[in-house]
Amino acid sequence: RKILVLNGPNLNLLGTREPGQYGHSTLADVEAACTAHGQRLGHEVECFQSNWEGALIDKIHEYGRLFREGKVLGVVFNPGALTHTSIALHDAIKGVEPLPVIECHISNVHAREAFRHHSWVSPVAGGIVVGFGTDGYLLAIDGLVRKYGATAR
Ligand code: DQA
Repeated sequence: RKILVLNGPNLNLLGTREPGQYGHSTLADVEAACTAHGQRLGHEVECFQSNWEGALIDKIHEYGRLFREGKVLGVVFNPGALTHTSIALHDAIKGVEPLPVIECHISNVHAREAFRHHSWVSPVAGGIVVGFGTDGYLLAIDGLVRKYGATAR
């Protein structure tokens, strides 16, 4: 079954954006590593990034449909700053339950500004990975497979 690695706003700038916070790997590096890691675990990986909230919502809806058809294991999602603002993303994930969504943040958001401490996505996430740098995406894939991989759906 397929895994979606979904990235929100500004994550296309990975590699050059605040490298002290987010490291030197580019989004293409991260997506290639996720694809290889998923394949090692026997899962096809699709990667999608958008700076637009609605495009992320459309993608979550698409994966909700594919999940119901039994074609999808789940989603690893770094919503970027929309984490802290978007009730629409919360509702989108809630709306396609039980599609598993693992929330992933490169930085330890809890060690940063107070406005990064609240997440609208966490209450509807199957698990959360924070603070492991871009390795976190691979840890999130591991977590998704370990938590949901054995179930038929
Ligand atoms: C982030 C943390 C968010 O607070 C920030 O707005 C991002 C990246 C992370 O991966 O650490 O864009 O989600």
